[in-house]
Amino acid sequence: MAYNLLKGKKGIIFGALDERSIAWKTALRCVEEGAEIVLTNAPVALRMGTIDQLAKECNNAPVIPADVTNPADIENLFDQAIEHFGGKVDFILHSIGMSINVRKGIHYTENNYDYMHKGFDISAISLHRILQTAMKKDAINEWGSVVALSYIAGQRVFPDYNDMADAKALLESIARNFGYQYGVKKHVRINTISQSPTRTTAGSGVKGFDGFVDYADKMSPLGNATADECANYAVSLFSDLTKMVTMQNLFHDGGFSFTGVSEAIIQHMGESED
Ligand code: NAI
Repeated sequence: MAYNLLKGKKGIIFGALDERSIAWKTALRCVEEGAEIVLTNAPVALRMGTIDQLAKECNNAPVIPADVTNPADIENLFDQAIEHFGGKVDFILHSIGMSINVRKGIHYTENNYDYMHKGFDISAISLHRILQTAMKKDAINEWGSVVALSYIAGQRVFPDYNDMADAKALLESIARNFGYQYGVKKHVRINTISQSPTRTTAGSGVKGFDGFVDYADKMSPLGNATADECANYAVSLFSDLTKMVTMQNLFHDGGFSFTGVSEAIIQHMGESED
């Protein structure tokens, strides 16, 4: 059901790789709510993925390649988006994550530092780079909204989340600190959504992911939040209904983050003792 929450708004969506991507679902929901969007992803992801299909479904949204570790790519992206829209943007979705240590199955205590730097650059520092470029170009309208995707491993230990946990802690910190600066300067708000584990390409790369998903589902009073539900939440944060929300890490996890233990987990533990 559409409410026209984003009527007249213009946004940039980073990170739609395939139909399972949180960014993919969010792009569709934004357009359904009346927004005009520009899609972007790393050149290699554009070659591998099926983003043209999404672009078509989004009223022929332009697809502009940008590797978020490359400042020139980010500048070009904003220049092209502003030219396409004939003005500034109102919202940005940062839905980007990658850890080479996770990909290569390197244990946290054995992490390779070149890989770690690369992972932090892609998954966290990229948010700073995007915001810095936007601020220099004055590319975001007053009261614009920026949302990045995070995970609770940024605050609590989930051993197999590896160095992505540190990347998420950094991402959330950048959202807070840039949120202050951009808030004072232009009333632009910046938040992270801390999403339930979700079966996507990035998610499935984490060791023992299926067990992870089932555990979180059993621990959450409402069950795990889906990618579609995450898209709805992102739309609400891009809308004017959440105008005074900024610098927050917002849990979208069916209650997981504030549940100590659930009856379903206790029962499961009891069964394994029998
Ligand atoms: P996904 O694999 O569909 O999306 C990750 C995106 O990052 C891909 O589109 C990929 O091309 C992009 N990316 C990687 N390197 C890049 C680069 N150098 N430049 C530009 N883009 C680059 O997976 P998903 O799950 O939709 O991930 C989106 C966000 O949600 C990530 O930040 C992830 O950590 C976060 N998240 C995912 C959860 C899950 O369980 N799937 C749970 C909580 C948060």
